[in-house]
Amino acid sequence: MTKPRVVETAEGIQGDFDVRVYDRMMRRMRDKGWLQTREILKAGIDRGLALEVGPGPAYLGLEWLKKSTGTSLKAVEISPAMIEIARRNAREYAFSDRVEYVKGDAGKIPFDDNLFDGAFTNGSLHEWADPKTVFNEIHRVLKPGGRYCVSDLRRDMHPLVKWFMRTVTKPKEIRPGLRSSIAAAYLVEEIEALLQECLPGGYRVEKKAMGLVITGTKAG
Ligand SMILES: C[S@@+](CC[C@H](N)C(=O)[O-])C[C@H]1O[C@@H](n2cnc3c(N)ncnc32)[C@H](O)[C@@H]1O
Repeated sequence: MTKPRVVETAEGIQGDFDVRVYDRMMRRMRDKGWLQTREILKAGIDRGLALEVGPGPAYLGLEWLKKSTGTSLKAVEISPAMIEIARRNAREYAFSDRVEYVKGDAGKIPFDDNLFDGAFTNGSLHEWADPKTVFNEIHRVLKPGGRYCVSDLRRDMHPLVKWFMRTVTKPKEIRPGLRSSIAAAYLVEEIEALLQECLPGGYRVEKKAMGLVITGTKAG
């Protein structure tokens, strides 16, 4: 029997130390080619203007921009310290003209209705105070026919997978954060129940070794 969720935060990753350590971890993951960029392209998010929710240090969105053509990105992030790092990283990629980071809460996305061709987010679902509202918000800002891809950890990953993740997660200062993120993550069954309550359908939830991936299309 999997233990109940333990809420990690409703304010995102805020402290300067945590943000710097998180940036180092994600930079290393980027360098090893471990980001979810392929999942996003595979989900059909490969053109036009996309939304990223909770970009953190922003490597995922920046890699998506690098691997797609003629695309641009707007991102909503709750943590000002993360936005600072994201902007620095965008300058390093020379993508400052293709991406905009806006401070805001995913529960009230600060963009117009029907604006985006696609939307994606990785690793932030377990931090949202009210996921149903966020899924509704993602739907609101997508154009009809727009695709979305939401990936995150899952709480019931196999103990060996958990051990493996802990071992490869560096720097080691981030490991307590990994443990609390897994404890706050959802099960596939919980997400399916939640989506049934807030979306009209048109989505798919996949169980992966390390997490879960939700893909879908806004009805046209
Ligand atoms: C675990 S990090 C994941 C960062 C990045 N997506 C990645 O894959 O590395 C979660 C990010 O979501 C942000 N976040 C959490 N709740 C949020 C919310 N309600 N609105 C906007 N951003 C949020 C956090 O501040 C943090 O930067």
